[in-house]
This record gives sequence, structure tokens and C-alpha cells, in this order.
Amino acid sequence: MADQQLFSLVERMTLEEKIAQLMQLAVPFFEGAEESGQITGPMESLGITDEVVRNSGSVLGLAGAKKVIAVQEAHLRNNRLGIPLLIMADIVHGFKTIFPVPLAMGCSWDPGLAERSAEIAALEASVSGLHVTFAPMVDLVRDPRWGRVMESTGEDPYLNSEFARAFVRGFQGNDLSGDVHRLAACVKHFAAYGAGEGGRDYNTVDMSERQLREYYLPAYKAALDEGCEMVMTAFNTVHGVPATGNKRLMRDLLRSEWGFDGVLISDWGAVKELIPHGVAEDEAEAALKAIQAGVDIEMMTSCYIHHLPELVSEGRVDESLIDEAVLRILSLKKRLGLFERPMRGADPEAERELVFCDEHRHAAREAAAKSCVLLKNNSVLPLQPEQRVALIGPFAASGDILGPWSWTGSKEDAVTVEQGLRSKLSSGRLITAEGCGVSSMTEQQLEEALKAAKEADVIVLALGEDSEMSGEAGSRAFITLPEPQLELIKRLKPLQKPMVVVLFNGRPLDLHGVLDKADAVLEAWYPGSEGGAAVAELLTGEVNPSGRLSMSFPYSVGQVPVYYNHFNTGRPKDAPDAQERYVSQYLDIPNEPLLPFGFGLSYTDFSYGKMKLSAEEMSPDQPLEITVSVTNAGDMAGEEVVQLYIRDMSGEVVRPLKELKAFRKLLLQPGEQQDVTFTLTEEQLRYHHSDLSFESDAGQFCIMVGRNSEDTETRQFKLRK
Ligand code: IFM
Repeated sequence: MADQQLFSLVERMTLEEKIAQLMQLAVPFFEGAEESGQITGPMESLGITDEVVRNSGSVLGLAGAKKVIAVQEAHLRNNRLGIPLLIMADIVHGFKTIFPVPLAMGCSWDPGLAERSAEIAALEASVSGLHVTFAPMVDLVRDPRWGRVMESTGEDPYLNSEFARAFVRGFQGNDLSGDVHRLAACVKHFAAYGAGEGGRDYNTVDMSERQLREYYLPAYKAALDEGCEMVMTAFNTVHGVPATGNKRLMRDLLRSEWGFDGVLISDWGAVKELIPHGVAEDEAEAALKAIQAGVDIEMMTSCYIHHLPELVSEGRVDESLIDEAVLRILSLKKRLGLFERPMRGADPEAERELVFCDEHRHAAREAAAKSCVLLKNNSVLPLQPEQRVALIGPFAASGDILGPWSWTGSKEDAVTVEQGLRSKLSSGRLITAEGCGVSSMTEQQLEEALKAAKEADVIVLALGEDSEMSGEAGSRAFITLPEPQLELIKRLKPLQKPMVVVLFNGRPLDLHGVLDKADAVLEAWYPGSEGGAAVAELLTGEVNPSGRLSMSFPYSVGQVPVYYNHFNTGRPKDAPDAQERYVSQYLDIPNEPLLPFGFGLSYTDFSYGKMKLSAEEMSPDQPLEITVSVTNAGDMAGEEVVQLYIRDMSGEVVRPLKELKAFRKLLLQPGEQQDVTFTLTEEQLRYHHSDLSFESDAGQFCIMVGRNSEDTETRQFKLRK
């Protein structure tokens, strides 16, 4: 369909038909749908007519080739102009083959892996009839109390941007129109949803424009630079105005400054939420503010449907605003090829063949193994072939390891740790007991656990948070393991058997009572469909752990937010002339997190040679080369993530103590040495000044290279301009 045909299609539409294109409804509203689909927000009666449903532009939460075909066919029969529906859903970390949650993928420090996972998710979802995924979520996160940190790749703007690009490439490919096995991506939640006060979901965000641009915006921008088709608004306020009605954020920044011309969709109910936020008196004002801000699709409330007609007839909304939104939606349908092929990739046969196929499961297993982070190891791992293993804990035989946002995945299909270990250990070497539930423990469970542990040489505890404890609306004020699980550790400890803890969870936890008591701790996050198989490969040493934290683990919740790229303050605790009292510190806990950004152990040792700089100075046309040689000094092949940070010693505004600027993941055989060379350019030293100009400062910088954000070698250089 040519562009001109789209314009004439819009001309043929009535105002009501146009406004209905802007309405997104969940599955239960549609003829042909057999079930409710994915419900991800409050369901209220929207008071809409059948005619609105017939003319609506998109459906949310529908999947399954046959169901999609039935709904699309019914829609095309009923829609006067034959405009196909867009089928959208949250395919966040896999469709049926569930990959590790994005926070875990962030810990792989391997954007290529993320790209492949998104490509597989897109293939499975598109043969099942989907066109758009509400992903990637790229909100920068610093507060592990927030349940949705598991959906982000972490606390660093550079790392998040690399992953944002990779996810978009994986979902969309480079020919969305021709390749029916890709999905249009929708980056979310614009903007700064990850910065809600107190880690409470949907809560207020208030930060300076500098902070927003410096830390929170880069990953959204990276996704859009990669060609991401859609943007979803955030629930929160930005500069005092809810994002969904924020003209300055959406029209001025997103559309005018960044040139985004794709579809902007509200989050579920966010248009009507302008009322409780207190910036709209009623639904009509909410509709007015959202359309003026540039929101094209209203998800699951009916302010547009009920009030745009009167707002247009009263002259308060220019019809051209509506035409513009409709055109953007129709253009997306056109780019997806829906006018020619309304069923697009939906194909029951391909669905049977491809969804959850061996190749995809293998990729999910690889991703899971590369996303787990070894947090501690007093030489008890890997397990030795002759050892008898007592596998205990609520996650030993649980399939609840997929994590939130895996609605099309099935817990029953997940490989549990028990299944994973059984396939690796010879018979009789694995003894199992539940030990406790996620949040409960009976005497009998405890006795069985003690008995199993006594019979074994090593205890493996599979502990964590169930998937309802994180994700959307999953904020927690206390972020330890639930008490019964801590009690289980305490009761097993006196047996003096080597104890390994494997954690399944969606956020950095307060690990007191775990890290200090266990001999080894493996952070598995929610590893997805093949999680148990990947964990077994890691525990037995078939695969060497290579994940590195992309979000700091706090020493205690009282430290939160705690992140590596913070400022120094005027009274830093570790200054040579620091006094005992009048410094920036806690009286009762350290300033440092329990485990820093970039941290992760391996079964081998990597040694670093002295860092070499190509010069002591650099300039805009003379980049700096930094070389470090890394050796695998152990006797097992392994992967190391070499990390490069900088510090601007004296800026126009304060600068972070460390900023990640580059990293390289290396596979080294035992004894192998490799030189890693990074090129640092003047552009990488730029930042937002107080007047928001984006430039670098001439002067002194530190460069730090090492294995994590706290273990680095430091050198100095000068930028001349
Ligand atoms: O995409 C999600 C969003 O992240 C949270 N609210 C519901 C949306 C649609 O499911």
C-alpha cells in the first residue's frame, strides 16, 4: 500500500472510526476470542459499544495462531473499511521458550546473547500471531525494592543502552515488512519509571533535567536510534506532570528533539490515571492532555472514545491531531505488511514445529548459564563426581523459575534444578527434600531436610522469591529471603557440611544470613525454561560461571538506592584527611554495597597485567588507546569481562566517581593470555553541563580497568582541547 493510499484511507474514515483506531482493548472484548488472554492491569467496564470494538485499532494480550486468525477474520468481516487489527502483547523474555529475565541477561554482559533471545522470542510470537511486543523495558534501576528491576538490564546507562539496541535488533531484524517472523518493538516506559520514590511501584518520580538526560534517557534513545517502532508512556510523573499527559516530555523531547515519528501508546489505564494524579478533573480533560501530549493509543481506558468527539466539536482538539495519530497507527500496520497479509506470520503448523523447539531451548539454556553470577565460592564448587548431594529448598523441584512476564511460558515445562542435577549425577548421588516453602516451614519439612543433609557430602539449597514477589506491583520494603528460608540455612549450618546456595529471585537481595553462612552462592535469577539444566551445568563445572552483576547488591536496605556511579560528596569517607565523624557515612553500616556492580566469580583465576596507555594526553582528534593483558591463570577455560571506567576529576558540574565506558568479554583457555585494547574518544568524555549542553571538559581524568567496579587499576590522563 502506498503512502497516498493511507492518506485517502484516513480521509474516508469517520471521526468515530478514527478515534476507535486509537483505542486498545484486551482480548475479552473481541469476537472469536475463546479466553481472556493476558490481563495485566485493572479490568473495568469501559462502557463501549460493539461498534467501537469493530473499529478499534489494536488488541492486547492475544496469542496463538488459531485464536489470532479467528479474531482477525471476525474483525475484518465487521470493520467497514477492512482495517486489520494490530496484535500486541508483552513478550519480554521469551514467548514459550522462556529466557532469563532481562536483569539476568544484563548480567551476561553479552548483548549478542540478548539479541538472539529476542530473535527467537519474535519468531515464536509471530508464528503465534503477534505483531508487536511491549519490550524492551529499558528503565534504569537503582532501587531493588522495586519489583520491576528484574525487567531492566540494570543500573548503568551505557550497559543498558547496549542491551536496548540488541533487544530491538533481535525483535525487529532489519526488514520488518518482509520478514514476518519479526515483531515491532515498543520501548518502555518513557520516562524514568525506574526511579519511583521509595521503590514503590507507580510512585512519583522527581529529578533534575540533567539527571534525567545523563542517566535515565540514554537507553530509550539508544532503542530509538536502533529503529524501535513504538514507545510506551510511563505511569509516573516527570517534572511534576504524569508522563502520559506530559507535553514537554512527549511532544517537545521525544517527538521534536529526538524526531520520533512512531506510535506512542499509553500504559494500561494511564490516560485515565491523569485524574487521580491530580492533573485532570475528569475523563475529558485526561483525553485532552494525553492527545495534546502526543499519545496515539489509549490502552484499556475509554477517555478518548468517550470524549474526543465532543472535544473536537467544541474546537478544543484540532481534528488534525487525531488524523496524525491515526496515520501513525496505520503506517505501522503498513510497515508490518498487514494490509496485504492481515494474518502475517500466524501459522498453526509453524507454531507446532517452532515454538519451544529443541534449538530454542538450547539457546535458552546457554543464555541462562551465561546469566548466572557466582557470588561466593570457598572452593566447594564445582561439585565433585563422587560427592553425594542433598538438594533442599522450595526451588529444588519448582518450575516457578520463569519469572514474571512469561504468560505464554509454562512452569510445567520448565526444567527444575532437581531434573537438571538428576541428568548429571549418577543414581543414588542425589537426595532431595523440600526443607520449607517459600514463606513457610513445618517441623516435618525441617526434619526431612536435616535427614537428607546428614546423608550427604554437600548441601545444595535452592532458595529465593516466588515470581509473585517481584514484577509489576511487586515492591518489597524488606529484601531479604523470607524468614523460613533463612531459618533453614541456620538449622542446617551446625551440620558443618559444605553448603551451596542457589538463588532464584528477581532483585538484588539483602544477603545477610546467606552470603556469610554459605560456602558458595550462585545467583540464578529467574533463569527461564531451561533454568534447572543451566544451574546443573554450572554446579557440576560443565560450564564455568561468567555472569557479572549489572546491579549492585546492597549491604542493607537502608543503603538503597546504592549504585556504583555515584558522586563523591564534599566530605568523602575515604579522603586522606577525613575526620572520624564529620564525613558522609552511615554510623552502622559501610557505604559500599555488599557486592558491587560488575562483580562475579569464576572457577578459574584471571590475572591482569599493568595497564598501558598510548599517551598521557588525548585530544578530540587524538583518541587514547588503553591496553591491558589478561591471563587465565587457572586450569579451566573461562570467560572474563574486562571493564573500563573513567572519572572526570574536575567538571563543570560534579561527576561520578566511576562511569563504565567500555567492556570486553573474553574466552580464555587455561594459561592463555590476551591483550585487550580499548579506544577512548573525546566523545565518550562528554556529559550534560548545567546549561544542558553536551560536551567534555579539558583537564585531568582517571582511567580504571579491572574485573569489577571496585577492583581496578587506575591511571591518569589529560584531555587537551
Ligand atoms: O506493557 C505492560 C506494562 O509494562 C505494564 N502495564 C501493562 C502493559 C501491557 O501489558
